[in-house]
Amino acid sequence: MIKTQLLTVNAIGNVLAGANLTGVLRETWRKNTMLSSQQRGAIQDLTYGVLRYYSQLDTLLQSLLHKPLPDRRLHYLLLVSLYQLNYSKAPVHAIVNHAASSARMLAGNRGASGLVNAILRNFIRQQEMLLAQTKQDETARYAYPQWWIDKLRQQYPQHYAGILLAGNQHPPMTLRVNQKQITVSDYQARLQACAIDSEWLWGSALRLTRPVAVEQLPGFAEGLVSVQDAGAQLAAPLLDVGAGMRVLDACAAPGGKSTHLMELADIKLTVMDKHAERLTMLQENFTRLKMPDYQLICGSALEPSQWWDGQLFDRILADVPCSASGVVNRHPDIKWLRRPGDIETFTQTQRIMLRKLWPLLCRGGKLLYATCSIFSEENNLLVTEFLSDHEDARALPCTHETIIHHGQLLPSTRHDGFFYALLQKN
Ligand SMILES: C[S@@+](CC[C@H](N)C(=O)[O-])C[C@H]1O[C@@H](n2cnc3c(N)ncnc32)[C@H](O)[C@@H]1O
Repeated sequence: MIKTQLLTVNAIGNVLAGANLTGVLRETWRKNTMLSSQQRGAIQDLTYGVLRYYSQLDTLLQSLLHKPLPDRRLHYLLLVSLYQLNYSKAPVHAIVNHAASSARMLAGNRGASGLVNAILRNFIRQQEMLLAQTKQDETARYAYPQWWIDKLRQQYPQHYAGILLAGNQHPPMTLRVNQKQITVSDYQARLQACAIDSEWLWGSALRLTRPVAVEQLPGFAEGLVSVQDAGAQLAAPLLDVGAGMRVLDACAAPGGKSTHLMELADIKLTVMDKHAERLTMLQENFTRLKMPDYQLICGSALEPSQWWDGQLFDRILADVPCSASGVVNRHPDIKWLRRPGDIETFTQTQRIMLRKLWPLLCRGGKLLYATCSIFSEENNLLVTEFLSDHEDARALPCTHETIIHHGQLLPSTRHDGFFYALLQKN
């Protein structure tokens, strides 16, 4: 337990210093090969939990401190303990005792352990009143930075509170059945035979009642199924691919949407990504799913002159790099790592990418612009501007029960947040 807490404290410190959570945990596993799967699971749960509720826990802690703690790691340790006291079922005395022992290890003296013990006991005595106080402060109540709350309130006056709360939920585990190999109902029966309950959402999407390790999924290694959010599964059907079409996936790695395109029709696919190491993940996915031939390019969608052979494409998927504000349920670190100015940096890249890819599309062809963002600067505002500058482009409706006005899919307990704009060349 103490080792788990200390590694969690370390991971949180690294993320709050600016590192990406997935990378931090990967590094933790690499350096601590002796950790059991239970210990890894506990570190993951605590790290995700603290980052999900960071500003709420920090507000609670500030109200318990008379002056800053001598060591930042003690601060993070207390955040972990407050998270456990508020959101876990662990016995209160065990949480406090472990925190006190961890504090002694961290600071190397008994004073730290007494201080941590006193702060946590003080919290337990006043828990109800302190929690009620956090409701007065928006950043604490919603557990997001103020600029994020303000932006969403301005852009979604009706929905912003629901969006913020949805981003704090545990994400569902959703599967995409490879319909080239098995039907959805047959695969659901295979799941049931393994005592894994699932619910059909739409298309090839099955949401599991409880997440399981991928190794437990029947036929996973043989490519019967992939793990992919249900919102992400809307992209490939929207692009409306047919046999023999030349299709470009311009920002393809790790290949979630491009493998889906391949499952829908026998297309001539070119997959590209700027990052070679991400293309390795893509290749592994293509191999596992037994995908037929495809063209692989490591290159930039911002510079088609470096790699394009001059043959037009019938379909283009531009799943551009973005703020990822629609997937904070899976990546809670994003809330604290992003700065307001980052959005403008993303939109500059997105704007150029869309303009550079457009000439590669044939007449009558379709381009799907996609983000996993809920900020309108990266989405409908950017596409509206593009349409006003391009007379040969028109927006086709993105129809699906979940997609609201202007192609926006808002995050919910069933799926992540995405934006889709389907553009056709006249
Ligand atoms: C949203 S992710 C793509 C997810 C992918 N479509 C899927 O469904 O699995 C965006 C991708 O764009 C890539 N990328 C970033 N800048 C790029 C550029 N200039 N050209 C091509 N790819 C780029 C990133 O490496 C990242 O893999």
